[in-house]
Amino acid sequence: MAVENKRIWVDYTVFGLSIFLAFCLLFESYIELPNLVAWIGRWHPLVLHFPIVLLLVAIFLGFRGKDIPNNLLVVATIGTLVTAISGFFLGSENTPKGDLLFWHEWLGSTLALAVVLWYWLDGMQLGKKVYSKALQILIIGLVGFTGHYGGMVTHGEDFLALPTEKRQNKIPENPLIYQDVVGRILENNCMSCHNPNKQKGELLMTNLKELLRGGEVGNTVIPGDAEQSEIIKRLHLPKEDEEHMPPDGKKPLNDLEIQILERWIDLGASDTMRLDHLEDTEPLVNLVRGLMEPDPMENWAKLPKVADSTLQNLSTDYITINRVASNSHALSVNVFLSPKFDSLVITNLQQLAKNIVELDMSGLPIGQQEMNMVSSCSNLEWLEIDGTPVTDTQVEVLRNLRSIRLLKIYDTKIGDKSIPVFKDLQSLKSLYLWKTDISEAALESLRLSRPSLLINSGIDNEIKTFFVETDSITNNK
Ligand code: HEC
Repeated sequence: MAVENKRIWVDYTVFGLSIFLAFCLLFESYIELPNLVAWIGRWHPLVLHFPIVLLLVAIFLGFRGKDIPNNLLVVATIGTLVTAISGFFLGSENTPKGDLLFWHEWLGSTLALAVVLWYWLDGMQLGKKVYSKALQILIIGLVGFTGHYGGMVTHGEDFLALPTEKRQNKIPENPLIYQDVVGRILENNCMSCHNPNKQKGELLMTNLKELLRGGEVGNTVIPGDAEQSEIIKRLHLPKEDEEHMPPDGKKPLNDLEIQILERWIDLGASDTMRLDHLEDTEPLVNLVRGLMEPDPMENWAKLPKVADSTLQNLSTDYITINRVASNSHALSVNVFLSPKFDSLVITNLQQLAKNIVELDMSGLPIGQQEMNMVSSCSNLEWLEIDGTPVTDTQVEVLRNLRSIRLLKIYDTKIGDKSIPVFKDLQSLKSLYLWKTDISEAALESLRLSRPSLLINSGIDNEIKTFFVETDSITNNK
């Protein structure tokens, strides 16, 4: 009798919870939950493992032909229902709901109701029938899918995907500041927690409208006032501060990224602003350009491998070969003048040609052979050949250097014939050119055709006078 009674109460509980769950499922959008209930929702990730294990154990026992202890099934059933309901409480904090969360909720609820059905069949001694077994297989499937969607809700959509690159594709030539720059920074660093499936701090970053609407603290983005915008305040907090964004354990934004967000907000947080709408003197222009520069480490990742022993064999007292970073195959080479300088020192570097990204041969008596070696360094970014006997004809070989960014070729005898070569080096950013035979007119034509090239053509006259006039040694004479 007592057993019968208990059974009835358990049935009532299961029935009641099922009805409540179905009610949640159907009328979710109409329910406003009190805070305490929302707090119960926070327990969802903790309790959910418990019924999963019980269910799998029960199904396993059944398939082995054993009797499933009734208590086990009771606890598993009620546990599943409670988990599903607490999940609803948790999910109701999120509006609007993302697809992942939507599917996770429906799969979880279907799972719970399937378990109730099994419980009911088992109570009617029908647990060993073929359709009961089929139901149990369905339950295993639902556990798998619900868990998978739940995992994607908590850890991001690509949770189980092989690790892939973030959105790294090239920023277009004339980017929309919000969409191509700001949006990308947020997407790569923040959106994993501020999206419809996982709306931390009630803040969504999926589009500008949501971002401007802000989160629970409010004043998330105040167009025109970065300093007072919550989003910027949080980026500037000390890393260990609980409110620093992104939270501890995630890669913080770098200064450039923070400054871009700041300046974009100060300029009104618009989504139609393009790079070429801005004056050249506007700081945002340079900041965005800085972000558009390819990350050198990425280019270098493709370089052929070189062993440390090779580097040691080629190094001497007069030549140092260093890795640009300890984990990189990009090399920086410095050659010094030795008493018995021999072209071989440099032509021997041929085997490393693809790896050399920085080469300093300042002041060496180099000739055609050495310059030929230089021309085969196709990844060279930084070249110093100042104070060498290099000629206009030899400068021609520099045309092969498609990655060259900086060239120091001052204090040489090169003349106007070298100018067309410099005009053609599209990647060149800085050119050091003083004390050469290049005419002022040729220099001017170079400036005109490459306005963004930084040409260091000598010390400013004013500064020169300053140095001469303030030279105390000459004065003392
Ligand atoms: C690992 C998850 C996670 C990541 C990644 C993350 N946040 Fe948050 N964010 C949270 C949580 C949790 C809260 C709510 C708790 C709080 O206020 O500190 C929050 C709250 C916020 C708030 C306050 C909401 C409001 O009312 O305005 C802002 C602003 C914010 N985050 C910005 C960012 C920015 C910017 C990034 C990227 C640089 C970022 N978050 C990345 C978890 C995250």
